[in-house]
Amino acid sequence: MPVRFDESKGAVVWLEQTLLPPDKAEGRDETWLTSTKTADFIRALKRLEVRGAPTIGVFAAYAVASLTFNVPNGESDPIAYIQREAERIANARPTAVNLRWAVNKMLSTLEELGPTPSLEDVRKAFLTEAKTIEKNEYEAGKRIGEFGNSLIEDGTTIFTRCNAGQVACGGFGTAGGVWRTSWAASKDISVVAATTLPLMQGARITMWELERDGIPSTLIGDNAVAWKLANTPGKKAFVVGADRILLNGEVANKIGTFQDAILAQFFGVPFYVAAPLSTIDPVSTSIPIEMRDPEEVKNLLGKLRITTRTARAENPAFDVTPRDLISGIITEKGIARAPYSESLSALKGANPRSARRVV
Ligand code: MRU
Repeated sequence: MPVRFDESKGAVVWLEQTLLPPDKAEGRDETWLTSTKTADFIRALKRLEVRGAPTIGVFAAYAVASLTFNVPNGESDPIAYIQREAERIANARPTAVNLRWAVNKMLSTLEELGPTPSLEDVRKAFLTEAKTIEKNEYEAGKRIGEFGNSLIEDGTTIFTRCNAGQVACGGFGTAGGVWRTSWAASKDISVVAATTLPLMQGARITMWELERDGIPSTLIGDNAVAWKLANTPGKKAFVVGADRILLNGEVANKIGTFQDAILAQFFGVPFYVAAPLSTIDPVSTSIPIEMRDPEEVKNLLGKLRITTRTARAENPAFDVTPRDLISGIITEKGIARAPYSESLSALKGANPRSARRVV
């Protein structure tokens, strides 16, 4: 589990994902950080120390729980303080809807506590809710794995992007849950992961997780996807994660996913998205795309400048894949197929009329 809660200190403990993979030969082990401070929670989210939509949700839930342990002395209205700080956490990143979803879910427990709950009552309610969110995201991954496995034939090469495995998804994995389940079912599969510029989550994290699981895997550069599809015989499928899915079936995922989906269509390869229902946004009709610091594009992992000092760069962290390119959306309650407005609304228990086309 990439996020934990230390009840003795009211602190959140998280795996520092920017330092993955560990490398014993180089003396680099996993780094775990601990804090009770809103500023640290926000920094961890913005820097991607904690990343991946479902894990971001679990982290945000524990961060809000931590607030109840650490109300400053002399704070005249602790609940208002908690709500203000929670709002700051919810605004740390814009695209993964799990962040806002988890914070709202935590704060909505206040409604059941009456008009003037004690801090002790709020603390108990928040901790219970955060633990439930953590457990549900883990179990959602397991069920997504089972549904997804039903789509994967023996002998399939699975293509993916970024990282939607254990550390990104609350411990089991969404896209990662699919290949882990297929592998556990003794299917002869292998996974091709794209490096995923600029922050290399595919190279650094997906490959590490695949190796830990002993699943046959190959890393390719981001610009080698077409070549690899053309040069891989046999059955192929894409399975990727998601950061926000609209009821109309449009999917925001790591930058490059839209390109992958176009290539999948060209090569006649099915393109599946795997995500928990917490990633489905039942309200919005468009998806805010996080624009990150251009320096991330200009400098390889902050270490090596690869262009001129003055080069103009853009760094969109996500893109939106149109629903027509998506063969199915795998959730913990089943596989949604087109028309997505109906199938996703039914799975989410939402009103299909809020599902409109946006791209
Ligand atoms: O910016 P990140 O690393 O938080 O991006 C999220 C992702 O890892 C991917 O887009 C992923 O495929 C979906 S979240 C499991």
